[in-house]
Amino acid sequence: MTDQPMIALNDGGAMPQFGLGSWQTPQDEAARVVQTALNVGYRSIDTAAVYGNEQGLGEGLRAAHVDPGQVFITTKLWNERHGYDSALKAFDESLQRLGLERLDLYLIHWPAPSRGLYVDSWRALVRLKEEGRVLSIGVSNFEPEHLERIIGETGVVPAVNQIELHPRFQQQALREVHARYGIATESWSPLGRGALLDNPVVERIADKHGKTPAQVVIRWHLDSGLIVIPKSVSPDRIRQNFAVFDFELDAEDMAAFAGLDSAEGRGGPHPLTAPF
Ligand code: A2P
Repeated sequence: MTDQPMIALNDGGAMPQFGLGSWQTPQDEAARVVQTALNVGYRSIDTAAVYGNEQGLGEGLRAAHVDPGQVFITTKLWNERHGYDSALKAFDESLQRLGLERLDLYLIHWPAPSRGLYVDSWRALVRLKEEGRVLSIGVSNFEPEHLERIIGETGVVPAVNQIELHPRFQQQALREVHARYGIATESWSPLGRGALLDNPVVERIADKHGKTPAQVVIRWHLDSGLIVIPKSVSPDRIRQNFAVFDFELDAEDMAAFAGLDSAEGRGGPHPLTAPF
């Protein structure tokens, strides 16, 4: 699909290790943002029904005149659409908004355990994959108990779990569970929503490589084997975030990054108590 690094998935597929995030990208800016990113060389775009920008992203895809088969598109099932029939319908609506006939990756956005429907939703995703309407299926914000439940009840292991992950919150325990099942780990909020970027340790590593703090943090994800999807709406930062394939971190840098991990590093909601 691209000459960028690819991550092999447990269903025989593969996805680009690097892509564009789009949480908080407004609908009316999404087409411009996608065109900029595709022109720079991005080949993977991540969105979600709840982001409210699928239509704009789809317009950007068409306007960029890139062959649809050359771009890997991910979207996600929103919590209010959990359930078997409801998830199938929500998938159709997302595809329609994106203007696509087939999706690359569909994720359950949150387990939303209080709704008690994520296993039914997962069965719907399994059907969509069997029908060839989506190439790979996975989850987001699933804790080990949720992973074990869907795998136990359906026998189908998700290809990906997209979770909050950045140097302040490295999620070692969950990553070990993923490794056991062959689930690829995808980092959301990879830049810690910008809060990491004035950290003195990160600044020192950036100076050493003649790169920006954001670039060395993105490189940390890549060198850690993670799928990384930094979000930006700024053309300069979209370009900057892509300029990470000409250097690597060394053991000393990786050790310094390891020291930033914190049990209190979570910035977003906890999957068990998220209020939605
Ligand atoms: P913007 O869209 O204005 O560029 P995360 O991916 O961790 O959620 O972080 C996204 C946040 O980081 C957004 O607020 C985005 O703002 C900002 N951001 C993205 N790339 C960079 C960069 N290279 N330098 C500084 N801030 C960035």
